[in-house]
Amino acid sequence: MDKIIIEGGNRLIGEVEVSGAKNAVLPLMAASLLVEDWNTITNVPRLKDIETFKVLLGHLGSEIIHDPESGVLKIRTRSVKTPEAPYDLVKTMRASILVLGPLVSRFKVARVSLPGGCAIGARPVDLHIKGLKKMGADIRIDHGYVTVRAERLKGAKIYLDTTTVTGTENLMLAAVHADGATVIENAALEPEVVCLADALNRMGARIRGAGTDTIRIDGVTELKPVEVRVIPDRIEAGTFMVAAAMTKGNVFIKDCPYNHLDSLNMKLKEAGAQILEEEGGVRVLGDYPVRSVDVKTIPYPGFPTDMQAQMMSMMCTAGGLSVITETVFENRFMHVGELQRMGADITIDGRCAIVRGVRALSGAPLMATDLRASASLILAGLVAEGRTEVSRIYHLDRGYERIEEKLKGLGAKIERQRA
Ligand code: UD1
Repeated sequence: MDKIIIEGGNRLIGEVEVSGAKNAVLPLMAASLLVEDWNTITNVPRLKDIETFKVLLGHLGSEIIHDPESGVLKIRTRSVKTPEAPYDLVKTMRASILVLGPLVSRFKVARVSLPGGCAIGARPVDLHIKGLKKMGADIRIDHGYVTVRAERLKGAKIYLDTTTVTGTENLMLAAVHADGATVIENAALEPEVVCLADALNRMGARIRGAGTDTIRIDGVTELKPVEVRVIPDRIEAGTFMVAAAMTKGNVFIKDCPYNHLDSLNMKLKEAGAQILEEEGGVRVLGDYPVRSVDVKTIPYPGFPTDMQAQMMSMMCTAGGLSVITETVFENRFMHVGELQRMGADITIDGRCAIVRGVRALSGAPLMATDLRASASLILAGLVAEGRTEVSRIYHLDRGYERIEEKLKGLGAKIERQRA
């Protein structure tokens, strides 16, 4: 298995470009199931999750042309061979559930393996299923799979008990062809939901309110294929912002979706970083010493749970005490044990992590546990004394495009050791 080796201590200086957002591409790929002809997605990052979703669409019967170099992905689905997302794919990528809505909407039936637990918590999909049931679908659960059938979905009023990103997207995808109007209340506000709604509207759907907590979808009978450019990845951009701030660096982040990162901006400024909006991106200047700040993860526009681990790494060497509260997922502190192995002073109390800043972290062999945790360990390695080795980086490759090359371009001493 590949490893990332880091020699800590360098300030990051220079310019880095943000890739397209993984969490926006996956629902756009699922949306391609709704049309017969070639749908085109551009600015697609080279990531393992994209490859997994391609395998899934191929398994369903889609034709795919992908040029990773130019980031252009074309998908055509004339018919489906098997309307099924098998266990082997769903267990490696929970976002596979996104095919449920479009499959049942266009092909009247879908069978998707239930994702079950994962490293960061239970992560059920009950709200996706409840929403489809409200739209008149017949639901069966057997042998670890959910089978959804509907001759034609009916518009419905759906209230989501918990704000769910892929749940909102799945129901939007299902509702575009439904009979009548669907209203999703307590919908997710994330920019990736808006990106999907914009794309669907360009395909001919009638969706209003995306980006607010009430989304209305008036069903239409036909959609046409389009070309869609993926929005920049706010989590990748945020990770570089934290990296710049914690290494006391000076980094220009090109294509940084600044307006999608308000909560992080505010926290980084509180911690002492300077964030300057410049033409085409954002410059982050780290300051010394980093000040401790409290962070609470909340669905968008609150502080993103996908940035919690990276922020915790920054707080490990800050001057004071920081309380980090995770409200979105119940078990998203897997990185804590690894940070403690580097000398971090962290106590977990339920959903809170209390981080007391230490003078320095020391490099150590570490194991990545999930996607964003992997990034946090790399950030910690950048400021640690000595050598850090991060293994199990297949998690990292799911969601960060060439992160080691990008960090190297900023002056980090970082290498990928191939197995
Ligand atoms: C998406 C993102 C992920 C991010 C997360 C929260 C994608 C592909 N992934 O994941 O990177 O960390 O949003 O911002 O976009 N829940 C239920 N029932 C459901 C669905 C969700 O109880 O049917 C709960 C979850 O357990 C969790 C919370 O709702 O506690 C939010 O999860 P959700 O927004 O659904 O996460 P994902 O869409 O899987």
